[in-house]
Order: sequence, then C-alpha cells, then structure tokens
Amino acid sequence: MSVHKNIKKITTNTLHEMKQKGEKIAMLTAYDYSMARLLDAAGIDVLLVGDSASNVMAGHETTLPITLDQMIYHAQSVVRAVERALVVVDMPFGSYQGNSRLALESAIRIMKESGAHAVKLEGGEEVVESVKRILTAGIPVMGHLGLTPQSIYKFGTYVVRAKEDAEAEKLKHDALLLQESGCFAMVLEKIPAKLTEAVSKSLHIPTIGIGAGGDADGQVLVSHDMLGINFDFHPRFLRRYAQLHEVIDQAVKQYVQDVKKQDFPSANEQY
Ligand code: KIV
Repeated sequence: MSVHKNIKKITTNTLHEMKQKGEKIAMLTAYDYSMARLLDAAGIDVLLVGDSASNVMAGHETTLPITLDQMIYHAQSVVRAVERALVVVDMPFGSYQGNSRLALESAIRIMKESGAHAVKLEGGEEVVESVKRILTAGIPVMGHLGLTPQSIYKFGTYVVRAKEDAEAEKLKHDALLLQESGCFAMVLEKIPAKLTEAVSKSLHIPTIGIGAGGDADGQVLVSHDMLGINFDFHPRFLRRYAQLHEVIDQAVKQYVQDVKKQDFPSANEQY
C-alpha cells in the first residue's frame, strides 16, 4: 500500500508548463510549519523559504545575518508541512558568493538536511559558476535579479533598480546568462514593469516578480506583509489581503481581559 496521498505535486516542470500555457505562478514566503501548512492547503504553487526570515522571523534590519543552519531549520519546518507546493530555499549571504565549491556544499546541505526541492541565489554573471556547479549535483536553481537584498550595502537603498539603460541592459544580459546556465526560473525584484515584460518575453523559463509589474510569469510576496502581520511596511507594490495584526491585537486584548477578570477559564474549560 502506498503511503503517498493522491496529490499532484508542483515540480519545476509544472512551472515551465504554466509559463507555456500562460498560467500565472503564485509564490509566497514561509518560514515555519503552521503557516506553510495553511498556505499549501490554500493552493499556493511555490513556497519560498526566503532569507527574509532574517527580517520577519528574527527582527534583523537586513537579510545578511541569517546563517545556513538557520535557513535549514526554517526549511525543515516548511517541508514537513507541505503536500503540494514546490519548496525553494534561499541560499544565505556568505554561503555561495565567490566560491562555487562552497556554493555546491551549501546547496547540498540545504537539500539533504531539509528535504526541499530547489535553492535560490542572488546575482547574475558573478554567480554563474556557482549556478553551474550546483546543477552538477542535480539541484534545481532559481535566480534572483534586480533589487537583490543581500547587496543592500552596495546599493545603499531599497529603491527601484535598473531604471537607467546601463543597469537595464546588464539585467537583460544576466537573465539570459542565468537561463543558459540552467536556472529553472528567476525572481525579478523591484524593477520597472516594462523591463519585466521585455525580460519575461525573452526567456523560456518563468520569471516571478515582486514589485516588478504584471507581466512576470508569476508573483511573489512576503506572506507576513500580504497578510498584514507586518503593519509598518507600505511599499507601493504591496497589496494587503488581510489585516491580521488587528485580529491578533483584538484577540490578545480580549484574552488579557478575560484572564484578569477570571472569566477564563470557565467551568467548561477545565478538568
Ligand atoms: O527572501 C525573500 O523573501 C525573497 C523574496 C522577496 C523574493 O527573496
């Protein structure tokens, strides 16, 4: 008897087919079991264990401090929850840059210790050697161009990237290089919508945009932002689908009141 449930899992091939059919890909971040379970059950196609966990989960100002061990811990929790979605894990800052052997070792650790399905790394030409080396181990790689948060100290600001011709041309060139190197998809973050349209049309692999307009082949948001758990982040690209901070605030205030008034627990809520 098979222990596997009859659920059609999303694979990298599914994403390619979706691009070919013109079906948009829906991706969200997840860092823990409970949230990943909800998002997967609701029909999300891809769950990204983003290094934004550094901000969202740990309260750091940037994504730089999170470690490979911490990313693996988050990825393990997400993988345990998922029945359908493709799980992609961000390779953290310092685990791949400038050293393709280190990149391969880090990617193997992520895959072996978490059970995830793919890794993501930031950058273009400068990471091509690492992408190719990771692929030699049969590990699918997602690229990430535009605003790459691990380079925030180089950029100095989180403003829209590639508005000028030179940076836009480099981005187009990098996108083709990543595709030629074997990436199965790529995130385009905070770039002009027209550039996303041009890049997405020029590639046969899917693009997944965040703040990059409607012509990407899919969209990604940080789940805590779109659910309104984070309430002090208001970029123009962010649509809030819920105000969970209000729900949580209300519920916790009520709980505090009930405990103080000795209304909780009631006779029915004890043994
Ligand atoms: O870490 C992350 O959440 C990301 C997305 C914003 C694409 O890389």
